[in-house]
Amino acid sequence: MKGSQSADISLAPAVYVETYGCQMNVADSQLVMGILRRAGYQRVEQPDQADVILLNTCAIREHAEERVLGRLSDLARLRNRRPELKLGLLGCMAQHDRQTLLQKAPYLDLVAGPDTYARLPQMLRQANFDPIVDVRLNRDETYAGVVPEHEPNAVRAYVTVMRGCDEFCAFCVVPYVRGRERSAAPDAVIDEVQALARRGVKEIVLLGQTVNAYRHGETGFAELLRMVCAVDGIERVRFTSPHPRFMSSAVIDAIASEPKVQPYLHLPVQSGSDRVLQTMARGYRVGEYRALVERLRAAIPELALSTDIIVGFHGENDDDFEATLELLREVSFDSAFIFKYSLRENTKAYRLGDTVSETEKGERLATAIALQERISLLCNQRLVGRDFPVLIEGEARRGNGMLSGKTPQFKTAVFPASDGLGPGDTVLVRVESVTSHSLRGAPAKAPLQAGSAPEVRRPTGEMPTV
Ligand code: 5AD
Ligand code: SF4
Repeated sequence: MKGSQSADISLAPAVYVETYGCQMNVADSQLVMGILRRAGYQRVEQPDQADVILLNTCAIREHAEERVLGRLSDLARLRNRRPELKLGLLGCMAQHDRQTLLQKAPYLDLVAGPDTYARLPQMLRQANFDPIVDVRLNRDETYAGVVPEHEPNAVRAYVTVMRGCDEFCAFCVVPYVRGRERSAAPDAVIDEVQALARRGVKEIVLLGQTVNAYRHGETGFAELLRMVCAVDGIERVRFTSPHPRFMSSAVIDAIASEPKVQPYLHLPVQSGSDRVLQTMARGYRVGEYRALVERLRAAIPELALSTDIIVGFHGENDDDFEATLELLREVSFDSAFIFKYSLRENTKAYRLGDTVSETEKGERLATAIALQERISLLCNQRLVGRDFPVLIEGEARRGNGMLSGKTPQFKTAVFPASDGLGPGDTVLVRVESVTSHSLRGAPAKAPLQAGSAPEVRRPTGEMPTV
């Protein structure tokens, strides 16, 4: 950067943000950076260069919290060299552990819950002698008007369309730490998507804890999807995570009929046992989930599916666990995220306690993961010899002259780089070999032209408004 600009920047306080947990937190860190940039902060990539260090945290499992506490105590040592350094904890753990955090981590200057980020600049100014704690939830906060700081040059960007959750699954802290469900206004969503398209973003991922429950006035999730698909320059649209209960016909129709919506769904099931699902208060039975998968597969050709599974939940016996394995085999998910149940304070299941020992949970976890690895490998082996359009994201992680990107089904595809191909291009890749987690291949033809990305079927009139 040049002259006066760099002088300004060198005076700007430096902030380092580290993110834990789900995509929602990644998006929230971008939001926080947008708020702080507007207040005169600059971002740095190393904690030892920072005046302010913020950890954006996750409370979903105990393990996630332990990692953050360990990291915090390491970072606090940087104070030996930088006594002015401010250390803040944001996000779900701030909310969940507000009572005990300052005892566990006395070096914190700031504890801020997910609905308080608009006040961060003010809180940072005040956090001088005593720590500032603000974990007020606000059922209206959607951060309208805040421009998140998206990753520069990224091919894919997250756009948060709804915050909070009203489902209260018995195992889950999210409704307590993120508060009530609220949806962003559709015009705010579209403004953000248009701005991202102008910056060259090709793929949008709409985020919400139960994203398909999105509703703002007359606009439901199906309408929102269609509006996002109508934005020029955006080639692919995804969303996460839908809840099986809100997978309405309108949403299925929108996915099936909008060519930009990609054929991949992450549809958490949690368990294959009705008894367990009932204790979990998931609001559906296994048979309903199976029927939904059939409807989705009938409506959306080439659909890839992934799911979340919890093993060792309260009351889960051998038969229940076997039913989960059976569901994994039967549905044949492309991938599954499998977790050991972690008893969380404040949740409905907390008072029920743990009934499955840690050893048993570990064994169930290993069994389920091993089964899923075999299933994922079989799913991928069926793709050998086929061609998929891959949206290139950049060099493959291991480099060595390979590029990497995602297929429509959100599978990572790796293939040799060639001249003129780079991030944001879509290339047809022929799959030559696979692992359970990725595909390897070679470009099948010349790169697709920008216009050959799926055409949008646009309504003939104006874009729908609310
Ligand atoms: N223990 C283990 N896994 C959990 N999840 C949510 N709460 C818990 C918990 N207490 C999992 C669910 C959810 C995913 C994001 O995290 O599978 O879908
Ligand atoms: Fe948690 Fe259930 Fe809400 Fe998902 S739907 S965030 S699992 S309470």
